[in-house]
Amino acid sequence: MPKFINKLHLGDTLEILKKIPSNYIDLGITSPPYNKKEKNNGWLVDKVIYDKFKDTLPEKKYQQNQIKVLNEIYRITKNGGSFFYNHKLRWEKGNMLHPMDWLRSTKWHIRQEIIWDRTIAGNIRGWRFWQVEERIYWLYKPIDNNKIGKELASKDAKMTSIWRNPPENKNPHPAPFPLWLPIRIILSMLKEDSASVVLDPYVGSGTTCVAAKLLGFNYIGIDVSKNYIKYAQDRIANAANEQSKLNKEKELHTVHKTFKQRKINGEHKPKHTNGDLFYE
Ligand SMILES: C[S@@+](CC[C@H](N)C(=O)[O-])C[C@H]1O[C@@H](n2cnc3c(N)ncnc32)[C@H](O)[C@@H]1O
Repeated sequence: MPKFINKLHLGDTLEILKKIPSNYIDLGITSPPYNKKEKNNGWLVDKVIYDKFKDTLPEKKYQQNQIKVLNEIYRITKNGGSFFYNHKLRWEKGNMLHPMDWLRSTKWHIRQEIIWDRTIAGNIRGWRFWQVEERIYWLYKPIDNNKIGKELASKDAKMTSIWRNPPENKNPHPAPFPLWLPIRIILSMLKEDSASVVLDPYVGSGTTCVAAKLLGFNYIGIDVSKNYIKYAQDRIANAANEQSKLNKEKELHTVHKTFKQRKINGEHKPKHTNGDLFYE
């Protein structure tokens, strides 16, 4: 087994990425630290405090680092591969900081902006409406400069660009993914080729790797915290315990009746819900 695969690597993301050969991974999913300065700046929030790491870089330095990390990931991704980058809008002294501010300076082709409606967030403040959503950027590495490439299967393309689901709360990590999120992405992107490799460069509690393992794919995880890596390793070893969440998400990618059949039967609902609508 090649030395990076099916392992979690302890250290700084950028430094470890530099050691990985080019054109090595098929898909990546991550939520980086958001550079939220560890301030207690909302009415409901506790600070998000990480083990072994302070989320307090000067914003310019943070964005420059994210550009370097994303460009290294571009290098190690195969042509036709994708990277899903979860981030959010932030404000510094009232000025909005938007992920597009640095994403447009990377080598990636920005394919789609997905809204993750978490339905709740700690940072309620009176000078703006309650910000309950985050963003997920689908970044694409074209083949021969073709920015469209292969299309999603219709069972996956029926997902809308708004993903509504609350965050994970039974996890000791301060900012984990809910498991359905990487499962949805992997299910939609990778097709039964167990040699495919999924990367999470800020792996935290290991959610992306658990999803990859449950779906029969290889994974690579990176994190700066020994404690998170240890927790993630145990979780990956016991991934089968989380199988029921996989089944739940798989059901949303199943077609019971096509859009056409619903329309003929007068059952078509114009409302978009996560699994209730189908186009064909
Ligand atoms: C938002 S969390 C990711 C959580 C993950 N998605 C999960 O499901 O648990 C970001 C992670 O990045 C790690 N981290 C922060 N700076 C890092 C760096 N320079 N290199 C590697 N990991 C880093 C933190 O330890 C933290 O676990």
